[in-house]
Amino acid sequence: MKVLTVELGNRSYPIYIGQNLLGQAELLQQHIRAQQVLVVSNATVAGLYLPKLLQNLSGYTVETVILPDGEQYKNVDWLNKIFDQLLTCKFSRNATLIALGGGVIGDMGGFAAACYQRGIVFLQIPTTLLAQVDSSVGGKTAVNHALGKNMIGAFYQPQCVIADASVLDTLDDRQLAAGLAEVIKYGLIGDPAFFAWLEANIAALLARDKAALAYAIEQSCLNKARIVAEDETETGLRATLNLGHTFGHAIETGMGYGAYLHGEAVAIGMCQAADLSSRLGWLSKQDVARIVALLKNAGLPVTPPLSLKAPQFIELMSVDKKNVDGDIRLILLHSIGEATLPIAVERALLTETLEQYGRE
Ligand code: NAD
Ligand code: GLY
Repeated sequence: MKVLTVELGNRSYPIYIGQNLLGQAELLQQHIRAQQVLVVSNATVAGLYLPKLLQNLSGYTVETVILPDGEQYKNVDWLNKIFDQLLTCKFSRNATLIALGGGVIGDMGGFAAACYQRGIVFLQIPTTLLAQVDSSVGGKTAVNHALGKNMIGAFYQPQCVIADASVLDTLDDRQLAAGLAEVIKYGLIGDPAFFAWLEANIAALLARDKAALAYAIEQSCLNKARIVAEDETETGLRATLNLGHTFGHAIETGMGYGAYLHGEAVAIGMCQAADLSSRLGWLSKQDVARIVALLKNAGLPVTPPLSLKAPQFIELMSVDKKNVDGDIRLILLHSIGEATLPIAVERALLTETLEQYGRE
């Protein structure tokens, strides 16, 4: 097992990465402070892994909330089911909430933990590649609103992240690819050597080679932990983790939550960001081609949905947490491995990308 640390002073916490960690009761129990434990999961993941987790919790007072599976349920209505359960069972402030699932469950469970009695102990057990390399680390929690993705949320750090790579065996290929989009993002925003490693090892990752996956998870978490430690609440550097996300969130919201997986939408968005960076004269055409090729080789979509036209894109992109005074601000690339901070670009140039990239 590898143990990384997210360094946040007295709120620092470990990320455990390895095989079969879900069976290790000690790992989990050392982070639980009192008897009451609520496990939040969804119907799919609970069917696969809840019994194993519950074996580690014998002796505790355990309740569960099993939400329906899907991004379309990541909203305040379903969040309320978690509060209903916590209150019905009279959970107190020293209770623990464990999120067992992908990014949807992690984001919702984390937000519930942040709000319930102004904050209870929160543990992340991410079960998708995307959640293991990104969403479970760093304390961003949120639900969606019909008008904007992740627009209602809080920063709330977990006490630990348990990334058991063996649970990825049951993840389907489309979800694995979606996770790879966020892995590739780390290479693009600050780790060109990792990007080159991904180019050379993408086939091994898609074939679920255990050593390759372990390396990708570890490098991703190292990158994320470094960035979060430097800028926990996104006053600067952390925004680079949003590469492709303003385009991507527009696709997710515009096409209806769940139509495109988050990672798929981000993959398209990173291609659009690369195209725009090249129109600005920053990124070379060869680098744009490398980026598109790697994402394509990872089994990800690389062109935007044709039904989402430029004006609707712009309308959707105008609801984003990076925007200031109505300006759409984007993360762009100077090169592979060097991202900008949020930057407003000329509307005409953005429109060119939206109208031309992937539309021919
Ligand atoms: P998800 O949570 O919807 O999970 C994807 C699918 O995989 C679901 O159907 C789920 O039931 C299934 N699943 C999960 N684990 C499984 C397993 N081990 N075996 C088989 N099936 C399994 O989606 P996701 O891609 O994990 O996360 C996307 C969400 O994460 C989005 O809502 C996005 O906004 C959020 N996100 C948050 C952050 C953050 O920093 N908080 C970062 C990136 C993404
Ligand atoms: N996934 C973006 C962030 O954690 O900041």
